[in-house]
Amino acid sequence: MVAKIIDGREVARKLRGEYAVRVSELKAQNGRAPGLAVILVGDNPASQVYVRNKVRACSDVGIDSKFIALPANTTQAALLQQVDDLNGDMTIDGILIQLPLPPHIDIRDVLERISVEKDVDGFHLYNVGGLVTGSTVFSPCTPYGVQKLLEHEKIPVEGANVVVVGASNIVGKPTALMLMSQDATVCICHKKTRDLAQFTLLADILVVAAGVPGLIVPQMVKTGAVVIDVGINRLPDGTLIGDVDFEGVRQKASYITPVPGGVGPMTVTMLLHNTIVSAERTLAASKR
Ligand code: GUN
Repeated sequence: MVAKIIDGREVARKLRGEYAVRVSELKAQNGRAPGLAVILVGDNPASQVYVRNKVRACSDVGIDSKFIALPANTTQAALLQQVDDLNGDMTIDGILIQLPLPPHIDIRDVLERISVEKDVDGFHLYNVGGLVTGSTVFSPCTPYGVQKLLEHEKIPVEGANVVVVGASNIVGKPTALMLMSQDATVCICHKKTRDLAQFTLLADILVVAAGVPGLIVPQMVKTGAVVIDVGINRLPDGTLIGDVDFEGVRQKASYITPVPGGVGPMTVTMLLHNTIVSAERTLAASKR
């Protein structure tokens, strides 16, 4: 069996075309485009690349982005003030604070300060808790992107054995919760899991977000499994690879996502989606 490669760039391109139309409609009705504030604290090179991509993606669909670059020595109080200002700014529908933050800043305090209605990253505790109870205002972008890819390929999730490798707050845990709410049987593996293969071999859908290049080899994958690689690892020569041995696993899986060009483009696309939804909700509320 040779897997179908899920082309995240193509799915993202299609969705962004639809989003551009929704942005035009919002502009016509509201007199302004949806607005996303993107805050970067410090000069982490990877974060700079991610933020640049997000800002560019906004302009591709007509969303107004406001990029706020703050120095690494920004105080917690100053950052909280910035968030307060954006919470009160009627032209801003979404607020994103790029992580990681410098170590002197309490990430939870800052994320909890973002208005839940503008938390387009889905990192506020309310939104995190909502993943358990089914009452999120916004779903986090990377897990949402994974869900959309599965949906686009019409891969059934209900009743499927899903194994998530990686238990991070940003990807692993929310992905598991979202797929559980679609009635999958979900298992989360992590750094301390003993004999990882005994779990991964059970997966109909294997989602890998461990940050370990080449962690998943063909012997760990059931024939015909769907393999979603969320890992992004940069090798010393600059090439990007995922957590899955792509060429090997491809010979065994039914579907596989490449790195780059799989989940990555979907993360940014779901950020655009959440920002547009936020603007649509604000407009609807203003008419009530
Ligand atoms: N850092 C790594 N991934 C993300 C993300 O999805 N959102 C934010 N804000 N920071 C990140």
